[in-house]
Amino acid sequence: MKCKDFKLGPLNHVGVAVPDIAAAAQHYRDVFGITDITEPKDLPTQGVTFAFINLPSGQIELIQPYGDTSPITRFLEKNPKGGQHHVCYEVEDIHEAKAVMEERGMTVLNAPRIGAHGTPIIFLHPKNNQGVLIELMETPKHSDH
Ligand code: CO
Repeated sequence: MKCKDFKLGPLNHVGVAVPDIAAAAQHYRDVFGITDITEPKDLPTQGVTFAFINLPSGQIELIQPYGDTSPITRFLEKNPKGGQHHVCYEVEDIHEAKAVMEERGMTVLNAPRIGAHGTPIIFLHPKNNQGVLIELMETPKHSDH
C-alpha cells in the first residue's frame, strides 16, 4: 500500500479508565443489561488490567491501573470516578501506520507493542487529534477479537 492510500479501518473500541473494573462491569450488567463481558486480565507490559464489554457494534474497553507505574494512574487522579480515555481504530499494518502518521506530523507515543487484542498497537498524542488520545491496532488476522 502506498502511504497516500492509508486510511483508518473500523472503530474497534472505546477505552474507559476506571478505578474498579469489577464494579464498572457490574454497572454495565445492572444498568445497561450487558451480559457479554470478558473476565479481567492483567497486561503488565501496558500497566493495565482490562475487560471488554461486547456490544453488537463494537466494544468498550474498561482499563484499571496495574502496578505502580501505570500510564493511567495520573488520568484517574484527575478523574477519580473514571472517564473516557481513548478511541481505538484498526489498521492493516502497524509499522506502515506509524510511518504514515509520523510523515503526517502526528506525535506517535510508543514503538509498536502488543495490546489487549494480542496485536501490535501505537498511540497518537491527543494534541494532534482534537484532544482525543487515539490508539491504532493491527487488525487481528483471525476474527476472534
Ligand atoms: Co484500547
